[in-house]
Amino acid sequence: MFRYDEIVPWGRSFEEYRAMFALSEADLARRILGCADGPASFNAMASEQGAFVVSADPLYALDQVEIRRRIDATYDNVISQTWENREKFVWRHFRDPDALGQARRQAMDLFLADYGAYPHGAYPHGAHPHGTRRPAGCYVAGTLPHLPFRDQAFELALCSHFLFLYSDGLDAAFHQGAILELLRVAGEVRIFPLLDYNGEISPHLDAVTQAIEYKGFIAEIVEVDYEFQLGGKEMLRCVRRGEVGPA
Ligand SMILES: C[S@@+](CC[C@H](N)C(=O)[O-])C[C@H]1O[C@@H](n2cnc3c(N)ncnc32)[C@H](O)[C@@H]1O
Repeated sequence: MFRYDEIVPWGRSFEEYRAMFALSEADLARRILGCADGPASFNAMASEQGAFVVSADPLYALDQVEIRRRIDATYDNVISQTWENREKFVWRHFRDPDALGQARRQAMDLFLADYGAYPHGAYPHGAHPHGTRRPAGCYVAGTLPHLPFRDQAFELALCSHFLFLYSDGLDAAFHQGAILELLRVAGEVRIFPLLDYNGEISPHLDAVTQAIEYKGFIAEIVEVDYEFQLGGKEMLRCVRRGEVGPA
């Protein structure tokens, strides 16, 4: 069994985000919030390709040096627990847990470089580098279930490996409040995975989707072309009733 006493700073790549959330070119042209992005390289890489992405995470209250220290402090534990539990994963994209660690390090180094270049996401004088659409504050310290954004500031909110993953420590009421908050700030919300970190379907999934639907939203489970946790190839997609379906 995996056991985490706290939520770990661990970062995936742009390519993984694209697959996990079935992001089309049209999706990448939308105003995107990456919530709980932590040290993922999604923001850095997507922005380089012209996307408008704001990431929110409590981690961004810290500076680059402190975030790197936190990553270093948890890295060996994550990799050794992954070796112990390697039968819970599909080893197609990564040869083994050490290769996984190297890929994650690469993604987190990309994040750290980007974050360090623009502390707290603020560009000097609000300038957008290289004529990109990058917002002046692209890394915002923010903690679910209350985010520091206006209603419908974003068209699409993504939440990778936070909601449902830590179902042992975060109850159904937290999940419901967090998803409703994401739907307050964005027109559409996508969450991946629907499994906890031991590879079991989150015990909160049914109650949370029912509560979200009761509040006037559609909450649908969509299969995606990504599977690393065994059986973890579905995302939850939530939109207000009456909105158009996925592109
Ligand atoms: C396992 S990491 C996932 C990072 C990234 N989304 C990815 O998939 O690579 C979980 C992240 O959730 C963040 N987190 C913890 N509590 C949070 C909260 N209440 N609201 C938003 N993010 C939170 C942590 O700081 C951490 O960066």
